[in-house]
Amino acid sequence: MSNFKLYSKYYDLLYKNKNYFAEANYVMTLAKKYKKNIQNFLELGCGTGNHAEIICEQGFEVIGIERSTEMVAIAKQKNIKNFNAIVADITSFHVDKKFDIAISLFHVISYLTDNNDLINCFKTINKHLNTEGIFIFDVWYSPAVYIQKPETRVKRMSDENIDVIRIAESLIHFNQNVVDVNYNIIIQDKTTQLTNTYTEKHPMRHFSIPEIELLAALTNFKIIQTEEFETGKTPSENTWGVCFVLQKI
Ligand SMILES: C[S@@+](CC[C@H](N)C(=O)[O-])C[C@H]1O[C@@H](n2cnc3c(N)ncnc32)[C@H](O)[C@@H]1O
Repeated sequence: MSNFKLYSKYYDLLYKNKNYFAEANYVMTLAKKYKKNIQNFLELGCGTGNHAEIICEQGFEVIGIERSTEMVAIAKQKNIKNFNAIVADITSFHVDKKFDIAISLFHVISYLTDNNDLINCFKTINKHLNTEGIFIFDVWYSPAVYIQKPETRVKRMSDENIDVIRIAESLIHFNQNVVDVNYNIIIQDKTTQLTNTYTEKHPMRHFSIPEIELLAALTNFKIIQTEEFETGKTPSENTWGVCFVLQKI
């Protein structure tokens, strides 16, 4: 599977309008609610470092774990002070350090479609947390996926050199709790008018609250807060992204 290999090149442009500032502040507020005197954050699936950049500006140290070498290369080009991105898998990494807070944002955990990968990921995070450390993440929520159903979406973005069109078509695997998001990405060079087309498949798992409760219990965590990401509303069939706050037992 090559997801984020080609996509990474256009990632920051495609998410130029995503409010990373508000999201990072939301997560920092949740973290501070449960942990005083936070020193550092561990970020799983840090991508191109957009949340880390805002967290580091607040004086924290962030270590990022990211599987895609291309995403890490882009993150490193940003020269973010007190941020170190490491190429590794979130199901099996080792960092010689413990953390107050672990975060995993923008549905990274939904990329783990396999039960063993999920258990290994949560156990590995738990090992890297200090006593009563906090793990905050957002995932796709099963009731919303089944009731709303993923629609075909088209996104268009441009910079001074290129136009990018991204078409996202989904295939639901009802018995696996997985949706394949098939991206078709069309890049047009503004000067030469030459067009390139790429495809990438992103299999995404969605979760129910009892499933996360079970996963937490299996990996020495307890759930201490569950809410709609950013709004804080009670999750419902209209909630695509649910935020979970877990505490290490
Ligand atoms: C939707 S992006 C989110 C990136 C970043 N958190 C953000 O908000 O911009 C999902 C990221 O998770 C990473 N990822 C998915 N599975 C992973 C794994 N098993 N180990 C490490 N990174 C993973 C992908 O490479 C990708 O960068």
